[in-house]
Amino acid sequence: MLTSSTATGTFFGITAISTLLALAILLCLKFLLPRDVLPGVLQLRGVPLLGIMPEYLSQGMPRVIESLTTVGGDGISYAKVFNVTLVSVHTPAMIKAVLAFPEENASRKGRPGSMNWSPFQTLLRLIGKSLFTYTGTEVNHQRLAYTQEFNSGKANAAAFKTIARIVTAHVDTLTNSAASTEIANFKLSTDAFALALWGEHLYGNASHHLDRQVLPVSERIVHLCGSPWPSIWYSFLALIRLVTPGKPTWDEANLRCQVGEIVDRNFKILEQHERNDPALEIKAMRRISMLSGGGRTGPFSQFAVEFAHLNVFGGHHSIGSLIVWLLIELDRHPDSLATLMTEIRDIDPTNISFLTTKTPYLDAVLNEVHRLYPTVHATVRVINRETRLATSKTPVTLKPGMLVYLSILHLHMSTDYWGADAAHFVPERFLKPEATKNPAFMPFSSGPRSCVGYKFANLAIKVYLVRLLQSCAVQVVDHGHKVKIDTLLETERPVAVRLSKACAQDCGH
Ligand code: HEM
Repeated sequence: MLTSSTATGTFFGITAISTLLALAILLCLKFLLPRDVLPGVLQLRGVPLLGIMPEYLSQGMPRVIESLTTVGGDGISYAKVFNVTLVSVHTPAMIKAVLAFPEENASRKGRPGSMNWSPFQTLLRLIGKSLFTYTGTEVNHQRLAYTQEFNSGKANAAAFKTIARIVTAHVDTLTNSAASTEIANFKLSTDAFALALWGEHLYGNASHHLDRQVLPVSERIVHLCGSPWPSIWYSFLALIRLVTPGKPTWDEANLRCQVGEIVDRNFKILEQHERNDPALEIKAMRRISMLSGGGRTGPFSQFAVEFAHLNVFGGHHSIGSLIVWLLIELDRHPDSLATLMTEIRDIDPTNISFLTTKTPYLDAVLNEVHRLYPTVHATVRVINRETRLATSKTPVTLKPGMLVYLSILHLHMSTDYWGADAAHFVPERFLKPEATKNPAFMPFSSGPRSCVGYKFANLAIKVYLVRLLQSCAVQVVDHGHKVKIDTLLETERPVAVRLSKACAQDCGH
């Protein structure tokens, strides 16, 4: 009897284990084997089971976007990174459609906790809430405050005096010391200019970056947002419950503390100014606070505090980078430089109406540089709810958890939208007014979440360029600079620049 019951037990045991194993294998196969998740859409295939994970981990998101856009297809392609689907959408119409999706269907950050590769989820943990990651009714209020402060002609006219003053001080420092100066890494210099401008404009403190704390903190945030590793590490920690989904890790909290220290210090300096001289012209940070419920004195609004955190990460990079690319392209194209000099040689860079109405060629040059070198070269949306996207052949169904990449750089470089010379610097294309309306031109994105600060940035860049080119001749020392597509678009190596005062006067520039 004993023998027979043992045999029966063993039999049931083996059957149960085999059934469980078979189920586990079936589940794994269902989970891991390549499936046609987007029927009719071309797939960039990688290695079995992992998909393009090796490429993603070794080279990061930008490389994956590049590979996905080269797959081509009907303006849409996709790849699997293990069990996550990355979709690239690359026609103007489809990009605009995705950017216009309601936020319940697609947002920048998606859900915390689950494997989520969105750089905005990392940004949220590093700097806390900002307009980038807000959804819901607050968005419209915040966008209005930003637009009033940074994208309105009136506000920028008021900011112009500060911009001109900071530009003049910066360019004078660069050019005053000797007849000719060589600067080994000009981006550091333009970053310093942009940081001084933000410091002065927001807090009345042009030297807030001089302790060398702001730039490294900001660079680290930019780097972490573009790298896949923080997301992987975070998902692992969330899985073993060492972090609460949405909350920063220990390292991230540390960096966030450093951001907080910079912000606190800036606010203290502004409050000190206000106490010392109550009649002081209201600084932009106080105005932003007043636009969002704060008083003329006393505590700053939550929105102002959030903007201050965001500004540590994003205030200077795009301004500095654009100026560097402008100098590279003008150095490569002496004819364009000569045309530009004819237009700007005698204008008064301290008079805003000259810069906003009488510089069509300068505007064309700037737009062409925005086209060839969009600092924000791509963005991302996480699908939250099943959503249909029309393609030229047949609609596709985007499923929750999919990550949709939108490559602005790809649009800007496409011969389909810009003609055979798409890869070349031809500012003249922007002399035709319809060029800025080209649906494939979106350096500041498009739709309900497009950039709310581009007019301020463009104005600062223009004042800087005019002042610099009027003061000295600029020569980019080493040629052949290439694009490096990181979190943001950068130069592959530092750009050395020679500034010569004598030449600016004698060479007829
Ligand atoms: C050359 C300079 C700039 C470039 C190329 C640029 C580019 C962009 C792009 C492409 C987006 C949309 C990203 C997306 O859809 O995910 C964006 C959004 C945004 N930008 Fe800019 N930007 C610049 C300057 C500025 C400045 C000076 C400010 C500061 C006020 C600013 C504040 C913002 C904010 C807050 C958003 C988010 C808007 C929202 O979610 O509603 N930007 N920018």
